[in-house]
Amino acid sequence: MTQKYAVVLAAGQGTRMKSKLYKVLHPVCGKPMVQHVVDQLNKLQLEELITIVGFGAEKVQDQLGNKSHYVVQKEQLGTGHAVQQAEDILADKEGVTIVACGDTPLLTEETLQNMVDHHIETEAKATILTAHAEDPSGYGRVIRGGNGQVERIVEQKDASTDEQAVQEINTGTYCFDNKHLFEALQNVSNDNAQGEYYLPDVIQILKGQGEVISAYQTTDFSESLGVNDRVALAKAEKMMKERINTAHMRNGVSIIDPDNTYIGPDVTFGQDVTIYPGSILNGNTHVEDDAVIGPHSTITNCRVGTESVLKQSVASNSKIGTRVQIGPFAHIRPDSSLGNDVKIGNFVEVKKAEFGDGSKASHLSYIGDASVGTGVNIGCGTITVNYDGHNKFLTTIEDDAFIGCNSNLVAPVTVGKGAYVAAGSTINQDVPAEALSIARSRQTNKEGYAAKIQSNKKD
Ligand code: UD1
Ligand code: CA
Repeated sequence: MTQKYAVVLAAGQGTRMKSKLYKVLHPVCGKPMVQHVVDQLNKLQLEELITIVGFGAEKVQDQLGNKSHYVVQKEQLGTGHAVQQAEDILADKEGVTIVACGDTPLLTEETLQNMVDHHIETEAKATILTAHAEDPSGYGRVIRGGNGQVERIVEQKDASTDEQAVQEINTGTYCFDNKHLFEALQNVSNDNAQGEYYLPDVIQILKGQGEVISAYQTTDFSESLGVNDRVALAKAEKMMKERINTAHMRNGVSIIDPDNTYIGPDVTFGQDVTIYPGSILNGNTHVEDDAVIGPHSTITNCRVGTESVLKQSVASNSKIGTRVQIGPFAHIRPDSSLGNDVKIGNFVEVKKAEFGDGSKASHLSYIGDASVGTGVNIGCGTITVNYDGHNKFLTTIEDDAFIGCNSNLVAPVTVGKGAYVAAGSTINQDVPAEALSIARSRQTNKEGYAAKIQSNKKD
């Protein structure tokens, strides 16, 4: 089997983005562009993947972590120069190197694999992934000879009028024989309109040496979309969104308004999930069968159980059980875990809290740093007083406890199993199991007092 390596070009500053954020870190469907490219490449069982990073390198490394090795390109002298930075690692390795750009987020594993297969079948030393573009402006054009064979690639800025009319473009993705790639790169010059060392010049050099050059044309132009500015970024978002939503609908998810539903590339679903408009699902979220999401809900890195419903709510980094009802207007903050048949109703905020099966906080509460047992009822307006300005403390509410409305539970504190807390209580000592705790001043009724006030007013 041919050994496969990959180089991802991500050192350019991306001046055309006019952004403080490094170009390849701009997200498409919630995931940075370069991460899309690296994730697709990593599905190809590579020996090694190297990302070429430049200015702002730490941020790219923080994003990709151990999914890549890194080489720094100190000065951005062009795409050819960028690939050369991997020479020390790759030049003496037998096999093929796939080169892709960090700004082509729509590239798929399937197309990359087809390109590699084509490269191997045709025994080429270089294979270019090309596409037919209705509007080829901005891309390098693929120039073929009279016999239809690829001769070279010419950049827009170096192209003659005739060459500019060519609609077959270089997607910026290639497959090379390792050794030939690095030998040819030695001969690339920067004698061109941009004064840069162009990677595509390798094609002409290898052709001149009589080597076989192949082209593999994608049928889907979207895959080649290179994002150089925010107009292209919006196009990429739209295309990716459509691709993701269509795949889920074909797989049994009902999306009421796909134009207004935003699903990240790593989100997964069971069957018969329904998603209402204005919903955003991101990260490693998984939604199980028959759940209903939205309208207007944002879910990040959550597991949502079967038949759960989440309306007009926000949830992140949490686990939501089966038949859980959330919202409208609830906020499930990180590290929360809701058991089965839990209800988190209107204007309830939950943070780092665990709810056992069947427990409910139906209205206007803050439950943070809490461990709530099963079958607990938390009355409207209950607050866990978890913070003294320096530290956070835990509130424990044991199984079947009943917390009356408008109670403050001053942590650290425990309400025992089956205990009752009277409405309006401020609880700062543990409540024993099965007890009733009343912690509010006793009501005094002054009979006939209204008349006294009225007579005082007359004086
Ligand atoms: C490049 C191709 C062009 C192709 C297009 C496809 C060249 C000379 N041209 O043009 O033929 O049609 O991609 O999208 O290769 N980069 C570095 N170091 C550098 C320069 C660039 O790492 O010194 C990286 C960038 O971060 C980017 C990628 O290489 O991810 C491509 O560079 P970019 O400037 O966007 O090239 P294009 O002008 O789009
Ligand atoms: Ca580009």
